[in-house]
Amino acid sequence: MFDLSPADLAGPVLDCCAGGASFAAETPNVLAVDPSYAVGFDEMARRVRASLPGTDAIIDDHRDAFEWSWYGDPQRRLEIRSRAREMFLEDLRDNPSHYVAGALPNLPLAAKSVDLALCSHLLFTWSDQLDEQWHRAALAELVRVTRREVRIFPLVVQGTGEPVEFLDRLRAELPPSELRDVPYRFQRGARQMLVIDARR
Ligand SMILES: C[S@@+](CC[C@H](N)C(=O)[O-])C[C@H]1O[C@@H](n2cnc3c(N)ncnc32)[C@H](O)[C@@H]1O
Repeated sequence: MFDLSPADLAGPVLDCCAGGASFAAETPNVLAVDPSYAVGFDEMARRVRASLPGTDAIIDDHRDAFEWSWYGDPQRRLEIRSRAREMFLEDLRDNPSHYVAGALPNLPLAAKSVDLALCSHLLFTWSDQLDEQWHRAALAELVRVTRREVRIFPLVVQGTGEPVEFLDRLRAELPPSELRDVPYRFQRGARQMLVIDARR
């Protein structure tokens, strides 16, 4: 999704909003942050296991908005995601220090405490619910905690795949940034990530 190389992952990495993803379980040096971690292990396990059918309902409602070259078909996607959820839960139980409850735009992290920050499926994609001012504050916060680079994916609205009208306006206020193609394919129109140079 973020087209990551070993060099990208050499230092501390922030995954925010990590949710029930298995990235921190599978990758050294990753700190996962999400507000939902505040509920504790048992409730988190109940929620992530219950959420998979709900996610697929969004896909059912917008069938033409998705392509299947990456996952193959809906059943295969469900299997991949179910395995990821179980890896996440095992790691949450065994390595709770990998997981911190926190929410944008106020993360419980020191300034410049990670090399790379990754944010998937929150900023821009939920812009039907989170407004431009919230995005401005959330982007500033991701840059604040990051030494090198912030990457955000996708850049289109969930379900519809529409572009986000305030993306260019916010980019003009940020440190230098670029739109870079990613190999991941799922939501139509979601082919690029935003890469922000956080070094200054
Ligand atoms: C669609 S999930 C994405 C999870 C994961 N990044 C992925 O791509 O599978 C969105 C996540 O954003 C989290 N979230 C909601 N509001 C947030 C906020 N203000 N700051 C950080 N995370 C938030 C939710 O708890 C949820 O886990």
